[in-house]
Amino acid sequence: MSNTEYFVLEGGDRMPRIGFGTWQASDDVLEKAVEAALDAGYRHFDTARAYENEAALGRALNRWIGGDPARRKELFVVTKLPPGGNRPDLVQEYFDASLRDLGLEYVDLYLMHTPFAFEHVPGDLHPKNPDGTIRADLSTDLVAVWKAILKLKESGRVKHVGVSNLNAEQLARLSRVGKPACLQVEVHALCQQKALVSAASALAVPVVAYSPLGSKALADALAAKTGREYPDLLQLDAVQRVARAHGRTPAQILLRHLLQRGLAAIPKSTNPARIKQNITLWDFELSASEMEELGALDRGEAGRICDFTFFPGIEKHPEFPFKK
Ligand SMILES: NC(=O)c1ccc[n+]([C@@H]2O[C@H](COP(=O)([O-])OP(=O)(O)OC[C@H]3O[C@@H](n4cnc5c(N)ncnc54)[C@H](OP(=O)(O)O)[C@@H]3O)[C@@H](O)[C@H]2O)c1
Repeated sequence: MSNTEYFVLEGGDRMPRIGFGTWQASDDVLEKAVEAALDAGYRHFDTARAYENEAALGRALNRWIGGDPARRKELFVVTKLPPGGNRPDLVQEYFDASLRDLGLEYVDLYLMHTPFAFEHVPGDLHPKNPDGTIRADLSTDLVAVWKAILKLKESGRVKHVGVSNLNAEQLARLSRVGKPACLQVEVHALCQQKALVSAASALAVPVVAYSPLGSKALADALAAKTGREYPDLLQLDAVQRVARAHGRTPAQILLRHLLQRGLAAIPKSTNPARIKQNITLWDFELSASEMEELGALDRGEAGRICDFTFFPGIEKHPEFPFKK
C-alpha cells in the first residue's frame, strides 16, 4: 500500500495518491498553477463548490483535455457538495451547478463537504445572521443526504461518491447505508488522526489527507483572529532533521510520511517549483525510526487547524464533527 501510486476504487478506477489542492487561489493564479501541475504529472485535482473556483479549474483542465476523451479519462476530478446543499432535495441541483461550472461531462468523485449544514440561500454559500454567526440548518438528516448523494451515481455523471470532515461515528453510520469511496479529512504531522484512520481502515475506506502541509494561509488568518499559535510544520526540528538526512525539502518529508502511513494527500501550491517538489515523492523512503519520530509529533485534537470556527456558531450544529 505505502508504495503504490494509486488507490484502486470500485470498478477498478484509480485515484492518484497525490492530488492537487486548489483552495484559496484567485482564478488566474489557479489556472496557471493547474497548468504547472499537469506538466508536473498531477492527474488528481481537488476542488469544491464552496471554493468558488470550479470554472477556473474547469477552464485549465479543458484546455489540457482538448476534447479528447482519452485525456479526460487520465484525470481524476473531485468536487464537493457545499454545506448549503446538505438536504436531500438540493443535492441534484448543487451537483448540476458544479458540473456546469467545471464544464465536464462527469466528475470522478463527489464528496459531501461537511456533515453540518447551512441554510440554502441562492447566491450565498455562507449565509450569516446579522450578528455574524452562520445561518446553520439544524435539521440535517445526514443519512438522507448521503442516500441522495449515492443516487447521483445512477446518472453516470459521477463515478464515485465519498465524504469529508466526518468523525468515526458518522463514518460508520453512513457506511452502513453505502460505503464511501474515500474519507477526506485534515491530516498532517501535528494532527495525525490515528484513531480515525484506523476506523476508516477497518471499514476499508481510503483516507485522503487535506491541509497536509499545515495550510499556512488558514493558520495565519486564524492566528490573527484568535491569537492562538499555529506552529509552522515546515520548521519543526524533526521534519528539518529528516529532510536534511534525505536531501529533501520539509514539505516532501511531510508528504512522504503520509504516503507511508497509507494515506493519499492533496497539497496545494501555486509555485511551479513547489508544485513539482510535492509530487516527487516515490524515489525515497523514510526509515522505521524516522516514521516513529514523525509519528511522535502528533498533538491530536490540539493540532487541528481547520476546525470550521471561521463559521461562528457552527459548533452548535448536532452533526458538528469535532467534539473537544
Ligand atoms: N475537505 C475540506 O474541508 C478541505 C479543507 C481544507 C483543504 N482542503 C483541500 O486540501 C487542499 C490542501 O490543503 P490547504 O490548501 O489547506 O493547505 P496545504 O496544502 O497544507 O498548504 C498550502 C500552503 O503550503 C505552501 N506550500 C505548498 N507546497 C510547499 C512546499 N513544497 N514548500 C513550502 N511551502 C509549500 C503553499 O504556498 P504556495 O502556494 O506559495 O506554494 C500554501 O501556503 C486544499 O487546497 C483543498 O483542495 C479540503
